[in-house]
Amino acid sequence: MLAVVNTPGGAEPVAVREVAGPEPLPNEALVAVHAFSLNRGELRLFQARPEGWRPGQDIAGVVLRAAADGSFPPAGTRVVGLCDWHGWAERAAVPAHRMAALADNVPYAAAAALPVAGLTALRTLRHGAPLLGKRVLVTGAAGGVGNLAVQLAARSGARVTAIVGSPERARVLDGLGAAETVTDIDAAQGRFALILEAAGGRSLKAAIERVEAKGTVVIFGNSSGEPTEIDFRIFGEHQNACIQAFHYFTCEAEDRFAPDLALLALLVADGSLRPVVSEYDWRDINRVGPLLRGRQVAGKAVFRIEQK
Ligand SMILES: NC(=O)c1ccc[n+]([C@@H]2O[C@H](COP(=O)([O-])OP(=O)(O)OC[C@H]3O[C@@H](n4cnc5c(N)ncnc54)[C@H](OP(=O)(O)O)[C@@H]3O)[C@@H](O)[C@H]2O)c1
Repeated sequence: MLAVVNTPGGAEPVAVREVAGPEPLPNEALVAVHAFSLNRGELRLFQARPEGWRPGQDIAGVVLRAAADGSFPPAGTRVVGLCDWHGWAERAAVPAHRMAALADNVPYAAAAALPVAGLTALRTLRHGAPLLGKRVLVTGAAGGVGNLAVQLAARSGARVTAIVGSPERARVLDGLGAAETVTDIDAAQGRFALILEAAGGRSLKAAIERVEAKGTVVIFGNSSGEPTEIDFRIFGEHQNACIQAFHYFTCEAEDRFAPDLALLALLVADGSLRPVVSEYDWRDINRVGPLLRGRQVAGKAVFRIEQK
């Protein structure tokens, strides 16, 4: 079968190549992958991992063969899934407890945007629950995590301020429920009960300056790569604020993956969550990596695999 293979020593970071098919463990289903998505963190792995390593966490497709231990989902089920790696291939072995079934009206492309980004949006927002009536600020709001976080927070009754990099990026969020969209965090007025921060550098400092007393800043990334200088005295006007480091994979128990994926899939099916995706053919992955790094992908970069 064909798969994306790491080629850090070559002319391009990865290549689509012929490899041996997967041999699923007893708790893994064999899935024909119709779409997958690329996460910003995976761009870094291309360089860090050795030649021949096979990337790929977020996938959507159809179960060809159920897990040998009898776990849901059965063959024929359309699914969204989270792999440890190896997912960007015509077929993937996916742990059954990290999959959820998709309703027929959920396109594979929308589903593929959900695992890493959707779980991150959902689980970061839980740090501010209940959100009804609260002010929530989301940085990187036009990105893969951000657009989902804006929608989930708004749907939960929060008043959302979305931070984007430019007026064009603001259009990505049209109709998705943000109360206001601003192009620089320094222009965000007032205090927020919950702030989702992944831009880093001066954005993180500005976020702390905007959190309510006893509010929470969830730090889940550093897209700018810049450090942030902070000093305890910054909290004088934000007393007892919580700075929460966040890692989507380890923040909740392993057995919560399937229910959380199922919740996200259900929200897409009923129309209350509309993942913003930019779709490409999977052979264009080397072209799209720099676009994602350069902030030129609206929402999530999703790749289609034509199944033979
Ligand atoms: N901790 C975890 O478990 C976890 C899980 C998932 C993702 N992450 C991290 O969370 C971040 C967001 O992930 P993602 O998938 O949403 O990435 P993404 O799709 O690339 O979106 C990132 C957004 O951040 C903004 N951004 C990028 N560089 C920036 C900079 N230098 N200064 C200010 N804003 C900048 C961009 O805004 P504009 O488009 O408006 O320019 C972009 O839309 C990444 O750093 C990722 O590595 C962490």
